[in-house]
Amino acid sequence: MCGIVAYIGPREAYPILMKGLQRLEYRGYDSAGICMLNDDLKVFKCKGKVADLEEYVRGKDLKGTIGMAHTRWATHGEPNQINAHPHFSQNKRLAIIHNGIIENYAALRSELKNRGYTFTSDTDTEVLVHLIEDIKSHEKVSLEEAVRIALNQVIGAYAIVVLSKTSPDKIIAARKGSPLVIGIGKDEYFVASDATPIIEYTDNVVFLNDEEIAIIRRNEKLKIRTVRNQDKTPYIQKLEMSLNAIEKGGYEHFMLKEIFEQPRSIRDSMRGRLHLDLGLVTLGGIRDYEQKLLNAKRIIITACGTSWHAGLVGKYLIEDLARITVEVEYSSEFRYRNPIISEEDVVIAISQSGETADTLAAIELAKGKGATVLGICNVVGSSIARATHAGVYTHAGPEIGVASTKAFTAQVAVLTLWALLLAQRRGSMPMSQFRRILGELNTIPDKVEHTLKVNDKVRDIAATYINVTNALYLGRGINFPVALEGALKLKEISYIHAEGYPAAEMKHGPIALIDEHMPVFVIATRRGTYEKVISNIQEVKARKGQIIAIINEGDETVRKLADHYIEIPETEEMLVPLIATVPLQLLSYHMAVMRGCNVDQPRNLAKSVTVE
Ligand code: F6R
Repeated sequence: MCGIVAYIGPREAYPILMKGLQRLEYRGYDSAGICMLNDDLKVFKCKGKVADLEEYVRGKDLKGTIGMAHTRWATHGEPNQINAHPHFSQNKRLAIIHNGIIENYAALRSELKNRGYTFTSDTDTEVLVHLIEDIKSHEKVSLEEAVRIALNQVIGAYAIVVLSKTSPDKIIAARKGSPLVIGIGKDEYFVASDATPIIEYTDNVVFLNDEEIAIIRRNEKLKIRTVRNQDKTPYIQKLEMSLNAIEKGGYEHFMLKEIFEQPRSIRDSMRGRLHLDLGLVTLGGIRDYEQKLLNAKRIIITACGTSWHAGLVGKYLIEDLARITVEVEYSSEFRYRNPIISEEDVVIAISQSGETADTLAAIELAKGKGATVLGICNVVGSSIARATHAGVYTHAGPEIGVASTKAFTAQVAVLTLWALLLAQRRGSMPMSQFRRILGELNTIPDKVEHTLKVNDKVRDIAATYINVTNALYLGRGINFPVALEGALKLKEISYIHAEGYPAAEMKHGPIALIDEHMPVFVIATRRGTYEKVISNIQEVKARKGQIIAIINEGDETVRKLADHYIEIPETEEMLVPLIATVPLQLLSYHMAVMRGCNVDQPRNLAKSVTVE
């Protein structure tokens, strides 16, 4: 979603801001803007991409060593030049950029209108900058104090940066619900929605907490004050991200790079946790909560999108291996349906970004009802990582492609370890079986590496289907969530309508869709419900549907039935999702590329969904 970047220091700000916006493009946006402070506040903005903004500002006066820039993902008001950020206050002495939603903007807007303010945009953001101006001029307070008072009147979520013509050496930034990171360099500061625009300049960062305001002055120490007017000592952390991790490294797209990174990201997510020699699993992050988990009557997993699919895989794993009841809920439903939660429940929130608004709200709800809430997050220091009582990081590395790939398999790898840990402690499976699965899990990164060799074949298969309008994905048992994830990947980046179904459910409706034009992607690996899936394949074939099967190497039976097949190495039934997902990711990727879609930034989508 919206991206923020700001700079103050000795260098020219424009190139830093532009590069920062490019780094933030992956978050998803529909317009962009920049504000330079040099004598006056100079604002330039336009609908479209950062490249369009670059074109638009060509030849303009962009000098200055302080400035801010923004990519907007429309919420209030359509994506156009007027609604793009930054927004001026009425007297044009203040400018603001904002992520999030001001929920009481309508009431504030009519109050400000009564006081003579006029609005040029449809945004909630413009309300906030007028409000700050109103407070500043009536109460004769400093910029930071005006921001603080204004934020006390605001209901909703925000990450903001404010510049003032009358305070040319100061940046005010604040957050609640939407992330903000401050990079501290030598005599310079960077502000951004995440660390990606900062990493090449400094690895010293401060993650602002909710309701904190940063007062950033040229050549002075960073000050932090809360909305309730308490001073805080900035907590400076070292970033562990590398610049390589956020660049394409020779791949055509981030998505392809991230698909190919999976052997490493799965291995990294298991490193130091899977102890083959000792026959043991440890998860240091939740050590203090193990007993709570073991005593839990049930576990509730909450997440959105792809992370929800990982949660579903987690249900199969934990119920099968550790014999604890697991419910999996969309965070957006969970938060509004008055769920029954008690102190005996353990909630696991899963999120790549760690910023998903609905998942954050679900966590707060569960905490409010006394549950223990644990997290599985990819982004270190993210809001969800901090809001949960404890948790386990996936070590997938930064995921830049909007479609989640390596984060999913890393989440599944961590959930597998989690299930094995509980199984081990509860003694719910024979030691021999435990050791066998552990040993097999250890081989998964190599098997994923091997699976990636199907890329060329997958590309050829993809070419056959680029003009279809619908697709069906079928899987059973633990591969049902893999079918859901395959379908989501295809629809979000290729705009082909796709649905995932438990294979046997097909008979109860979707079978009506099957004709010779319908590709049906089936996960048909040996073991588990293999024979049953073969029957489902026959049902599709009987109606002339096209079968593209993910099979185990050397499986002659399904090979003969399928129109196309993709072979993957054999593994334990419970571990198949870690491998079978990979060719489905590649299929979606190639279909989308051949259809001319922007795979890294699909239309309408945002990488971290910080609004509900
Ligand atoms: C799909 C995708 C989304 C996210 C969802 C949750 O490829 O990326 O469905 O999985 O928005 O995001 P996180 O995991 O950041 O909470």
